[in-house]
Amino acid sequence: MKIISVNCMKGGVGRTTLTCHLAIALAKLKKKVMLIDLDPIANASYAFGIKSTKDTTGIVEKDGVMILPAKKANIPIRVELADSIERKQILNGSFCGINDYDYVLLDCPSYSSAQVKEALKHADEVLIPIAFDAFTIHSLEQTFLSIEEARQAGNSKLKVHGIIPIQIFEFDVPLAKGILQEIKKTTNEHIYSTIRYCKDIPDSVRHSKSVFDYAPESTGALDFMSFAKEFIQDN
Ligand SMILES: Nc1ncnc2c1ncn2[C@@H]1O[C@H](COP(=O)(O)OP(=O)(O)OP(=O)(O)O)[C@@H](O)[C@H]1O
Ligand SMILES: [Mg+2]
Repeated sequence: MKIISVNCMKGGVGRTTLTCHLAIALAKLKKKVMLIDLDPIANASYAFGIKSTKDTTGIVEKDGVMILPAKKANIPIRVELADSIERKQILNGSFCGINDYDYVLLDCPSYSSAQVKEALKHADEVLIPIAFDAFTIHSLEQTFLSIEEARQAGNSKLKVHGIIPIQIFEFDVPLAKGILQEIKKTTNEHIYSTIRYCKDIPDSVRHSKSVFDYAPESTGALDFMSFAKEFIQDN
């Protein structure tokens, strides 16, 4: 069992979309997957059709993925930590049957928070999605810093699994090449093939479906599936 935290210290880079689609793709590839929604905004829970998370407790199965939804639908000022028994047990490894899982994926908030700290404390590996804009290099540096902090704080085995560039907007496409070249100068970590801009991805969320169901022939479905296949090989 591997715990993979999906982190980038910048908002709106496609982190939740990536986490959900990686989870579903891994399940389609016969892996046993759990997704924990650690973001109090609860977008991952919402994406799986779990719309009212206020009273949600316990694990829900959707699209072959076991999901532990975020418990709070409202954005609290003081965010509760490890607010479910399952979450505590899963993260500390005492959850019954956890070793039957191949992967536990953690969808985190972007900002430095108790949730990010908790995720990085327990994770084996970090997956870093990045978007293409002027702040990419800076947010990557901040993300590496938070990983280093977690190592110093005791999780010395924490590894970077890789970086996944995501074209969130159509206008990202011409920027991508130059930014990728810049990133390659700043890190030796593995950089996956870019998840291309795909209009069907935001459309699929509006229809409460994954892009695999909503537009199975789309570039989004193809890119997430090939990413998942490569991801398995790298483990
Ligand atoms: N490859 C893509 N092509 C087009 N749109 C995308 C793509 N990936 C993600 N999106 C869209 O970009 C928006 C932001 O994605 P998402 O919510 O996954 O980012 P996030 O990093 O989790 O954001 P937050 O900081 O709010 O948690 C969403 O509307 C999503 O549907
Ligand atoms: Mg998110």
